[in-house]
Amino acid sequence: MTKRNILITGGAGFIGSHVVRLFVNKYPSYLIVNLDKLTYAGNLENLKDVENKSNYHFAKGDILDVEFLYEVFKKHDIDGVIHLAAESHVDRSLHNPVEFASTNIIGTLNLLSAAQASWHSNYQGKVFYHISTDEVYGSAEHGIFFTEQTPIDPRSPYSASKASSDHFVNAYNNSYGLPTLISRCSNNYGPYHFPEKLIPLMINNILNSKSLPVYGKGENVRDWLFVEDHARAIDAIFHGGTSGQVYNIGGNNEWRNIDLVNFLCHTMDHKLGREEGTSARLITYVKDRPGHDLRYAIDASKLISETGWRPQVSFEVGLEMTVEWYLANQEWLRHVTSGEYLQYYAKMYQSS
Ligand code: NAD
Ligand code: DAU
Repeated sequence: MTKRNILITGGAGFIGSHVVRLFVNKYPSYLIVNLDKLTYAGNLENLKDVENKSNYHFAKGDILDVEFLYEVFKKHDIDGVIHLAAESHVDRSLHNPVEFASTNIIGTLNLLSAAQASWHSNYQGKVFYHISTDEVYGSAEHGIFFTEQTPIDPRSPYSASKASSDHFVNAYNNSYGLPTLISRCSNNYGPYHFPEKLIPLMINNILNSKSLPVYGKGENVRDWLFVEDHARAIDAIFHGGTSGQVYNIGGNNEWRNIDLVNFLCHTMDHKLGREEGTSARLITYVKDRPGHDLRYAIDASKLISETGWRPQVSFEVGLEMTVEWYLANQEWLRHVTSGEYLQYYAKMYQSS
Protein backbone atom coordinates (compact mmCIF):
# COMPACT_ATOMS: atom_id res chain seq x y z
CA MET A 1 0.00 0.00 0.00
CA THR A 2 1.28 3.48 -0.89
CA LYS A 3 2.36 5.55 2.10
CA ARG A 4 1.72 9.28 1.98
CA ASN A 5 1.72 12.11 4.49
CA ILE A 6 -0.95 14.60 3.53
CA LEU A 7 -1.58 17.99 5.07
CA ILE A 8 -5.21 19.09 4.86
CA THR A 9 -5.74 22.70 5.95
CA GLY A 10 -9.16 23.85 7.17
CA GLY A 11 -10.10 20.24 7.91
CA ALA A 12 -12.36 21.24 10.81
CA GLY A 13 -14.57 23.34 8.54
CA PHE A 14 -17.57 22.26 6.52
CA ILE A 15 -15.98 20.87 3.33
CA GLY A 16 -12.63 20.12 4.95
CA SER A 17 -14.22 17.76 7.49
CA HIS A 18 -15.78 15.73 4.66
CA VAL A 19 -12.44 15.59 2.83
CA VAL A 20 -10.61 14.50 6.02
CA ARG A 21 -13.23 11.80 6.70
CA LEU A 22 -13.05 10.48 3.12
CA PHE A 23 -9.23 10.33 3.08
CA VAL A 24 -8.84 8.87 6.60
CA ASN A 25 -11.33 6.08 5.86
CA LYS A 26 -10.42 5.39 2.24
CA TYR A 27 -6.62 5.50 2.60
CA PRO A 28 -5.57 3.76 5.83
CA SER A 29 -1.92 3.81 4.69
CA TYR A 30 -1.91 7.63 4.44
CA LEU A 31 -1.24 9.86 7.42
CA ILE A 32 -3.77 12.71 7.33
CA VAL A 33 -2.65 15.82 9.22
CA ASN A 34 -5.52 18.25 9.74
CA LEU A 35 -4.16 21.76 10.31
CA ASP A 36 -6.80 24.21 11.47
CA LYS A 37 -6.83 27.42 13.51
CA LEU A 38 -10.36 26.66 14.76
CA THR A 39 -11.88 30.02 13.92
CA TYR A 40 -15.62 30.40 14.52
CA ALA A 41 -16.05 28.18 11.39
CA GLY A 42 -13.82 25.34 12.60
CA ASN A 43 -15.52 22.68 14.68
CA LEU A 44 -13.78 19.48 15.78
CA GLU A 45 -17.16 17.99 16.63
CA ASN A 46 -17.44 17.54 12.84
CA LEU A 47 -14.75 14.86 13.06
CA LYS A 48 -15.72 12.88 16.17
CA ASP A 49 -16.03 9.67 14.13
CA VAL A 50 -12.40 9.77 12.92
CA GLU A 51 -10.57 11.58 15.73
CA ASN A 52 -9.21 8.36 17.28
CA LYS A 53 -8.07 6.72 14.04
CA SER A 54 -4.33 5.96 13.98
CA ASN A 55 -3.82 7.60 10.56
CA TYR A 56 -5.36 10.92 11.69
CA HIS A 57 -3.55 13.74 13.45
CA PHE A 58 -4.89 17.18 14.40
CA ALA A 59 -2.52 20.17 14.51
CA LYS A 60 -4.03 23.39 15.85
CA GLY A 61 -2.40 26.36 14.15
CA ASP A 62 -2.63 29.33 11.87
CA ILE A 63 -1.63 29.44 8.19
CA LEU A 64 -0.42 32.97 8.94
CA ASP A 65 2.27 31.47 11.22
CA VAL A 66 4.93 30.47 8.72
CA GLU A 67 7.34 29.01 11.31
CA PHE A 68 4.59 26.69 12.48
CA LEU A 69 3.97 25.60 8.88
CA TYR A 70 7.67 24.74 8.41
CA GLU A 71 7.56 22.66 11.61
CA VAL A 72 4.49 20.74 10.49
CA PHE A 73 6.06 19.95 7.10
CA LYS A 74 9.24 18.76 8.77
CA LYS A 75 7.70 16.84 11.66
CA HIS A 76 5.31 14.86 9.45
CA ASP A 77 7.43 14.71 6.29
CA ILE A 78 4.50 16.14 4.32
CA ASP A 79 4.41 15.17 0.62
CA GLY A 80 0.97 16.42 -0.36
CA VAL A 81 -1.16 19.44 0.56
CA ILE A 82 -4.89 19.93 0.15
CA HIS A 83 -5.49 23.55 1.09
CA LEU A 84 -9.02 24.46 2.18
CA ALA A 85 -8.37 26.84 5.11
CA ALA A 86 -9.97 30.19 4.33
CA GLU A 87 -12.44 32.79 5.39
CA SER A 88 -15.38 31.62 3.29
CA HIS A 89 -18.48 33.75 3.88
CA VAL A 90 -19.19 36.53 1.36
CA ASP A 91 -21.30 38.59 3.80
CA ARG A 92 -18.49 38.62 6.37
CA SER A 93 -15.99 39.67 3.68
CA LEU A 94 -18.05 42.81 3.06
CA HIS A 95 -17.48 43.80 6.71
CA ASN A 96 -13.85 42.76 7.03
CA PRO A 97 -12.02 42.61 3.69
CA VAL A 98 -8.58 42.87 5.30
CA GLU A 99 -9.08 39.70 7.32
CA PHE A 100 -10.05 37.91 4.10
CA ALA A 101 -6.99 39.24 2.26
CA SER A 102 -4.80 38.22 5.14
CA THR A 103 -6.04 34.63 5.60
CA ASN A 104 -6.85 33.81 1.99
CA ILE A 105 -3.92 35.50 0.22
CA ILE A 106 -1.06 35.69 2.74
CA GLY A 107 -2.06 32.37 4.34
CA THR A 108 -1.91 30.65 0.94
CA LEU A 109 1.39 32.33 0.13
CA ASN A 110 2.86 31.10 3.45
CA LEU A 111 1.77 27.57 2.68
CA LEU A 112 3.25 27.74 -0.83
CA SER A 113 6.53 29.00 0.55
CA ALA A 114 6.59 26.31 3.28
CA ALA A 115 5.99 23.61 0.63
CA GLN A 116 8.70 25.01 -1.65
CA ALA A 117 11.25 25.37 1.15
CA SER A 118 10.48 21.97 2.70
CA TRP A 119 10.59 20.09 -0.59
CA HIS A 120 13.93 21.69 -1.62
CA SER A 121 12.88 21.73 -5.27
CA ASN A 122 12.66 17.92 -5.17
CA TYR A 123 9.11 17.74 -6.42
CA GLN A 124 8.96 14.06 -7.35
CA GLY A 125 5.73 12.62 -5.88
CA LYS A 126 4.72 15.97 -4.36
CA VAL A 127 1.54 17.95 -4.94
CA PHE A 128 0.12 21.25 -3.70
CA TYR A 129 -3.65 21.28 -4.28
CA HIS A 130 -5.48 24.57 -3.74
CA ILE A 131 -9.27 24.55 -3.25
CA SER A 132 -10.72 27.61 -4.94
CA THR A 133 -14.25 28.64 -5.88
CA ASP A 134 -16.41 29.34 -8.94
CA GLU A 135 -16.90 32.86 -7.52
CA VAL A 136 -13.54 33.91 -8.99
CA TYR A 137 -15.25 33.96 -12.41
CA GLY A 138 -17.73 36.63 -11.29
CA SER A 139 -21.38 36.55 -12.28
CA ALA A 140 -22.63 34.55 -15.32
CA GLU A 141 -25.28 35.72 -17.78
CA HIS A 142 -28.15 33.28 -18.27
CA GLY A 143 -27.16 30.53 -20.71
CA ILE A 144 -23.41 31.02 -20.06
CA PHE A 145 -21.38 28.42 -18.13
CA PHE A 146 -17.99 29.01 -16.52
CA THR A 147 -15.21 26.96 -18.12
CA GLU A 148 -11.59 26.89 -16.97
CA GLN A 149 -10.88 29.44 -19.75
CA THR A 150 -13.45 31.97 -18.48
CA PRO A 151 -11.57 35.15 -17.47
CA ILE A 152 -11.22 35.77 -13.75
CA ASP A 153 -13.57 38.58 -12.68
CA PRO A 154 -14.04 38.55 -8.89
CA ARG A 155 -16.63 40.96 -7.56
CA SER A 156 -16.63 40.61 -3.75
CA PRO A 157 -13.78 40.94 -1.26
CA TYR A 158 -14.09 37.18 -0.67
CA SER A 159 -13.84 36.24 -4.34
CA ALA A 160 -11.08 38.83 -4.92
CA SER A 161 -9.03 37.22 -2.15
CA LYS A 162 -9.61 33.72 -3.57
CA ALA A 163 -8.73 34.88 -7.11
CA SER A 164 -5.53 36.45 -5.80
CA SER A 165 -4.56 33.22 -4.03
CA ASP A 166 -5.18 31.30 -7.29
CA HIS A 167 -2.76 33.64 -9.06
CA PHE A 168 -0.08 32.98 -6.43
CA VAL A 169 -0.54 29.22 -6.81
CA ASN A 170 -0.10 29.53 -10.59
CA ALA A 171 2.91 31.82 -10.05
CA TYR A 172 4.61 29.17 -7.86
CA ASN A 173 3.96 26.57 -10.56
CA ASN A 174 5.30 28.81 -13.32
CA SER A 175 8.20 30.43 -11.48
CA TYR A 176 9.47 27.62 -9.25
CA GLY A 177 8.03 24.48 -10.88
CA LEU A 178 5.96 23.63 -7.77
CA PRO A 179 3.50 20.88 -8.80
CA THR A 180 0.12 22.50 -8.23
CA LEU A 181 -3.56 21.78 -8.79
CA ILE A 182 -6.50 24.16 -8.46
CA SER A 183 -10.20 23.32 -8.41
CA ARG A 184 -13.11 25.74 -8.51
CA CYS A 185 -16.36 24.37 -7.17
CA SER A 186 -19.92 25.67 -7.07
CA ASN A 187 -22.06 26.00 -3.91
CA ASN A 188 -21.89 23.02 -1.57
CA TYR A 189 -24.58 21.82 0.83
CA GLY A 190 -24.86 18.91 3.28
CA PRO A 191 -24.20 17.90 6.91
CA TYR A 192 -21.94 20.05 9.13
CA HIS A 193 -22.63 23.23 7.13
CA PHE A 194 -22.32 26.28 9.39
CA PRO A 195 -25.77 27.90 9.80
CA GLU A 196 -24.72 31.30 8.45
CA LYS A 197 -24.95 30.00 4.85
CA LEU A 198 -28.24 29.85 2.97
CA ILE A 199 -29.38 26.23 3.34
CA PRO A 200 -28.43 25.51 6.99
CA LEU A 201 -29.58 29.00 8.03
CA MET A 202 -33.00 28.33 6.51
CA ILE A 203 -33.21 24.84 8.07
CA ASN A 204 -32.36 26.25 11.50
CA ASN A 205 -34.85 29.09 11.17
CA ILE A 206 -37.64 26.81 9.93
CA LEU A 207 -37.02 24.50 12.90
CA ASN A 208 -37.33 27.47 15.25
CA SER A 209 -40.20 29.12 13.33
CA LYS A 210 -38.06 32.22 12.73
CA SER A 211 -38.32 34.44 9.64
CA LEU A 212 -36.50 33.28 6.49
CA PRO A 213 -34.46 36.22 5.12
CA VAL A 214 -34.32 36.10 1.32
CA TYR A 215 -31.96 38.72 -0.13
CA GLY A 216 -33.44 41.06 -2.78
CA LYS A 217 -36.06 39.35 -4.92
CA GLY A 218 -34.62 35.86 -4.41
CA GLU A 219 -33.84 35.62 -8.13
CA ASN A 220 -30.11 34.93 -7.78
CA VAL A 221 -29.10 31.52 -9.09
CA ARG A 222 -26.63 29.08 -7.55
CA ASP A 223 -25.45 25.65 -8.79
CA TRP A 224 -25.69 23.28 -5.79
CA LEU A 225 -23.51 20.22 -5.21
CA PHE A 226 -23.73 17.70 -2.35
CA VAL A 227 -20.59 18.13 -0.23
CA GLU A 228 -19.61 14.43 -0.40
CA ASP A 229 -19.59 14.72 -4.20
CA HIS A 230 -17.16 17.64 -3.84
CA ALA A 231 -14.96 15.54 -1.53
CA ARG A 232 -14.96 12.71 -4.11
CA ALA A 233 -14.00 15.21 -6.84
CA ILE A 234 -11.10 16.45 -4.67
CA ASP A 235 -9.97 12.83 -4.26
CA ALA A 236 -10.15 12.30 -8.06
CA ILE A 237 -8.20 15.50 -8.79
CA PHE A 238 -5.60 14.95 -6.06
CA HIS A 239 -4.81 11.49 -7.43
CA GLY A 240 -5.49 11.97 -11.15
CA GLY A 241 -5.15 15.67 -11.97
CA THR A 242 -2.41 17.07 -14.18
CA SER A 243 0.07 19.42 -12.54
CA GLY A 244 -0.48 23.10 -13.33
CA GLN A 245 -4.11 22.56 -14.30
CA VAL A 246 -7.38 24.06 -13.07
CA TYR A 247 -10.54 21.91 -12.76
CA ASN A 248 -14.10 23.16 -12.44
CA ILE A 249 -16.46 21.16 -10.21
CA GLY A 250 -20.23 21.58 -10.30
CA GLY A 251 -23.54 19.84 -9.91
CA ASN A 252 -25.26 21.04 -13.10
CA ASN A 253 -28.04 21.88 -10.69
CA GLU A 254 -29.17 25.50 -10.86
CA TRP A 255 -31.77 26.89 -8.48
CA ARG A 256 -33.12 30.39 -7.96
CA ASN A 257 -32.83 31.13 -4.23
CA ILE A 258 -36.56 31.65 -3.79
CA ASP A 259 -37.40 28.34 -5.49
CA LEU A 260 -34.86 26.55 -3.32
CA VAL A 261 -36.22 28.11 -0.12
CA ASN A 262 -39.78 27.17 -1.10
CA PHE A 263 -38.67 23.60 -1.84
CA LEU A 264 -36.93 23.43 1.53
CA CYS A 265 -40.07 24.76 3.26
CA HIS A 266 -42.16 22.08 1.56
CA THR A 267 -39.66 19.32 2.51
CA MET A 268 -39.48 20.48 6.13
CA ASP A 269 -43.25 20.87 6.57
CA HIS A 270 -43.52 17.25 5.47
CA LYS A 271 -40.70 16.04 7.78
CA LEU A 272 -41.93 18.02 10.78
CA GLY A 273 -45.58 17.01 10.27
CA ARG A 274 -46.57 20.67 9.81
CA GLU A 275 -49.41 21.77 7.57
CA GLU A 276 -48.18 22.48 3.99
CA GLY A 277 -47.43 26.22 3.65
CA THR A 278 -46.56 26.78 7.34
CA SER A 279 -42.83 27.34 6.73
CA ALA A 280 -43.24 29.29 3.47
CA ARG A 281 -45.21 31.91 5.44
CA LEU A 282 -41.95 32.69 7.27
CA ILE A 283 -40.26 33.92 4.06
CA THR A 284 -39.26 37.58 4.37
CA TYR A 285 -37.64 39.59 1.58
CA VAL A 286 -34.78 41.66 3.01
CA LYS A 287 -32.27 44.21 1.70
CA ASP A 288 -30.07 42.72 -1.01
CA ARG A 289 -26.40 41.78 -0.49
CA PRO A 290 -24.30 44.65 -1.96
CA GLY A 291 -22.79 43.67 -5.32
CA HIS A 292 -24.76 40.39 -5.19
CA ASP A 293 -23.62 38.10 -8.05
CA LEU A 294 -26.69 37.11 -10.04
CA ARG A 295 -25.74 33.65 -11.21
CA TYR A 296 -23.02 31.01 -10.96
CA ALA A 297 -23.05 28.05 -13.35
CA ILE A 298 -20.23 25.56 -13.86
CA ASP A 299 -19.18 23.52 -16.86
CA ALA A 300 -17.42 20.51 -15.27
CA SER A 301 -16.83 18.58 -18.51
CA LYS A 302 -13.01 18.74 -18.24
CA LEU A 303 -13.08 17.03 -14.83
CA ILE A 304 -15.61 14.46 -16.02
CA SER A 305 -13.68 13.55 -19.17
CA GLU A 306 -10.25 13.48 -17.48
CA THR A 307 -11.12 11.61 -14.27
CA GLY A 308 -14.51 9.98 -14.80
CA TRP A 309 -15.90 11.80 -11.73
CA ARG A 310 -19.63 12.47 -11.71
CA PRO A 311 -21.98 13.67 -8.98
CA GLN A 312 -23.56 10.65 -7.30
CA VAL A 313 -26.24 12.39 -5.24
CA SER A 314 -29.22 14.11 -6.89
CA PHE A 315 -30.37 17.39 -5.33
CA GLU A 316 -33.72 15.94 -4.20
CA VAL A 317 -32.00 13.04 -2.39
CA GLY A 318 -29.14 15.21 -1.07
CA LEU A 319 -31.46 17.87 0.32
CA GLU A 320 -33.63 15.27 2.01
CA MET A 321 -30.53 13.62 3.56
CA THR A 322 -29.33 17.04 4.69
CA VAL A 323 -32.64 17.94 6.35
CA GLU A 324 -32.75 14.52 8.03
CA TRP A 325 -29.16 15.01 9.27
CA TYR A 326 -30.00 18.39 10.84
CA LEU A 327 -33.14 16.95 12.46
CA ALA A 328 -31.14 14.03 13.87
CA ASN A 329 -28.26 16.28 15.00
CA GLN A 330 -29.99 19.14 16.76
CA GLU A 331 -27.40 18.85 19.52
CA TRP A 332 -24.69 19.79 16.95
CA LEU A 333 -26.83 22.69 15.79
CA ARG A 334 -27.44 23.81 19.38
CA HIS A 335 -23.71 23.68 20.17
CA VAL A 336 -22.92 25.74 17.06
CA THR A 337 -25.59 28.37 17.59
CA SER A 338 -24.79 28.69 21.33
CA GLY A 339 -21.01 28.70 20.77
CA GLU A 340 -20.53 25.58 22.97
CA TYR A 341 -18.60 23.85 20.18
CA LEU A 342 -15.71 26.25 20.85
CA GLN A 343 -15.03 24.35 24.10
CA TYR A 344 -14.65 21.00 22.36
CA TYR A 345 -10.94 21.48 21.57
CA ALA A 346 -10.09 22.28 25.19
CA LYS A 347 -12.06 19.26 26.39
CA MET A 348 -10.57 16.81 23.89
CA TYR A 349 -7.02 18.06 23.39
CA GLN A 350 -6.04 20.06 26.47
CA SER A 351 -7.40 17.92 29.29
CA SER A 352 -4.07 16.33 30.28
P1 NAD B 1 -15.50 26.95 6.31
O1 NAD B 1 -15.59 28.40 6.59
O2 NAD B 1 -16.59 26.04 6.76
O3 NAD B 1 -14.14 26.36 6.93
C1 NAD B 1 -12.92 27.06 6.86
C2 NAD B 1 -11.93 26.38 7.81
O4 NAD B 1 -10.68 27.06 7.71
C3 NAD B 1 -12.36 26.43 9.28
O5 NAD B 1 -12.20 25.17 9.88
C4 NAD B 1 -11.43 27.47 9.89
O6 NAD B 1 -11.17 27.25 11.27
C5 NAD B 1 -10.18 27.28 9.03
N1 NAD B 1 -9.34 28.48 9.02
C6 NAD B 1 -9.72 29.76 8.77
N2 NAD B 1 -8.68 30.60 8.88
C7 NAD B 1 -7.59 29.83 9.19
C8 NAD B 1 -6.23 30.11 9.43
N3 NAD B 1 -5.76 31.36 9.40
N4 NAD B 1 -5.38 29.09 9.69
C9 NAD B 1 -5.85 27.80 9.74
N5 NAD B 1 -7.15 27.49 9.56
C10 NAD B 1 -8.01 28.48 9.28
O7 NAD B 1 -15.26 26.83 4.75
P2 NAD B 1 -15.85 25.78 3.70
O8 NAD B 1 -17.19 26.23 3.28
O9 NAD B 1 -15.64 24.41 4.22
O10 NAD B 1 -14.84 26.06 2.48
C11 NAD B 1 -13.57 25.41 2.46
C12 NAD B 1 -12.81 25.89 1.25
O11 NAD B 1 -13.55 25.60 0.06
C13 NAD B 1 -12.56 27.40 1.22
O12 NAD B 1 -11.28 27.61 0.71
C14 NAD B 1 -13.64 27.94 0.28
O13 NAD B 1 -13.17 29.10 -0.36
C15 NAD B 1 -13.78 26.79 -0.70
N6 NAD B 1 -15.12 26.64 -1.33
C16 NAD B 1 -16.25 26.60 -0.57
C17 NAD B 1 -17.50 26.37 -1.20
C18 NAD B 1 -18.79 26.30 -0.39
O14 NAD B 1 -19.86 26.19 -0.99
N7 NAD B 1 -18.76 26.31 0.92
C19 NAD B 1 -17.56 26.17 -2.58
C20 NAD B 1 -16.37 26.24 -3.32
C21 NAD B 1 -15.15 26.44 -2.67
O1 DAU C 1 -20.09 29.38 -5.20
C1 DAU C 1 -19.23 28.90 -4.20
C2 DAU C 1 -19.37 29.76 -2.96
O2 DAU C 1 -20.64 29.46 -2.39
C3 DAU C 1 -18.25 29.53 -1.96
O3 DAU C 1 -17.03 29.93 -2.53
C4 DAU C 1 -18.51 30.31 -0.66
O4 DAU C 1 -17.52 30.00 0.28
C5 DAU C 1 -19.87 29.90 -0.12
O5 DAU C 1 -20.17 30.64 1.04
C6 DAU C 1 -20.96 30.12 -1.18
O6 DAU C 1 -21.15 31.54 -1.43
P1 DAU C 1 -22.63 32.17 -1.62
O7 DAU C 1 -22.54 33.60 -1.30
O8 DAU C 1 -23.22 31.76 -2.91
O9 DAU C 1 -23.40 31.34 -0.46
P2 DAU C 1 -24.49 31.80 0.66
O10 DAU C 1 -24.96 30.53 1.28
O11 DAU C 1 -23.96 32.86 1.53
O12 DAU C 1 -25.65 32.40 -0.23
C7 DAU C 1 -26.28 31.64 -1.24
C8 DAU C 1 -27.30 32.55 -1.91
O13 DAU C 1 -28.36 32.82 -1.00
C9 DAU C 1 -26.75 33.90 -2.31
O14 DAU C 1 -27.37 34.32 -3.52
C10 DAU C 1 -27.17 34.84 -1.17
C11 DAU C 1 -28.49 34.23 -0.73
N1 DAU C 1 -28.83 34.36 0.72
C12 DAU C 1 -27.89 33.98 1.63
C13 DAU C 1 -28.16 34.06 2.97
C14 DAU C 1 -27.12 33.64 3.99
C15 DAU C 1 -30.08 34.81 1.11
O15 DAU C 1 -30.94 35.12 0.25
N2 DAU C 1 -30.36 34.87 2.44
C16 DAU C 1 -29.45 34.53 3.40
O16 DAU C 1 -29.75 34.63 4.61
